[in-house]
Amino acid sequence: MNNSTDLKQQIMDIAREAGSIMLSAHDIEKTQSEKAGDFNLVTEYDVAVQTFLIKKLKELLPEASFIGEEAGLDSHKPLEDGYTFVIDPIDGTSNFIHGMMISVISICLLKDGKGYIGVVYNPYNGEMFHAEKGKGAFVNDRKISARTDGLEHNLLSFGTSPYHRNEEHYFKGTFETLERLFPKCLDLRRLGSAALDICYIAAGRTGLFFELILQPYDYAAASVIVEEAGGVITDMNGDPIRFDIPVSILAGGPECYREFFET
Ligand code: IPD
Ligand code: CA
Ligand code: CA
Repeated sequence: MNNSTDLKQQIMDIAREAGSIMLSAHDIEKTQSEKAGDFNLVTEYDVAVQTFLIKKLKELLPEASFIGEEAGLDSHKPLEDGYTFVIDPIDGTSNFIHGMMISVISICLLKDGKGYIGVVYNPYNGEMFHAEKGKGAFVNDRKISARTDGLEHNLLSFGTSPYHRNEEHYFKGTFETLERLFPKCLDLRRLGSAALDICYIAAGRTGLFFELILQPYDYAAASVIVEEAGGVITDMNGDPIRFDIPVSILAGGPECYREFFET
């Protein structure tokens, strides 16, 4: 069996290869269809990337089970001991369809139900975010760390829980939270990829991120990366995140995270 550094390297190699499927995409809008839920789109490329990832990751770790976004995989389930891959083949599908070039491949390896390796790859600019528990977080070869200063010096990013926009609780909760935080921070950003939002906290580009509901495959890989970068990630009540059910997400540098509960 490979040692864990090789394992992370091999997962990154697979992510990079999968990225070339995204880069070769053409006529994307023609391949889209709507899934259950509001405004929830999928393209043939989401499915092709997921199929590719499952094949390659199974070759790498045949004993692993899978959680993932597209057809055939559970989006969440009770966790087993041993290895589980939690994958989002394209995080930022609406960006992908609209040519925004802000979409990533997100691969997490859980060991006994806990975050172990996280890989998030943006094929458009070649940025590979990666971390293994206890060994620091990196973008490509550069070590990264979350910011340690407060909200007034930092950008705040957020997600709109777009697939739940007709549920008043999520819709109102999002914009009320923004109303509360906007006066305290430098400015707001909406990237359109939750995995990348959390990696940007890890890289110290933004100070705080929240979204009222996300699936484990949206945040699993990035959660390993942000924690290894000295950031904090919990649900919006301050409780530990889980990988077996959807939860709200609050991620930030330690001071921004603390200020969230004070404002
Ligand atoms: C979505 C993106 C988006 C977030 C949504 C996610 P998808 O993932 O991460 O930024 O606001 O809640 O579902 O559908 O593009 O993989
Ligand atoms: Ca996603
Ligand atoms: Ca997706």
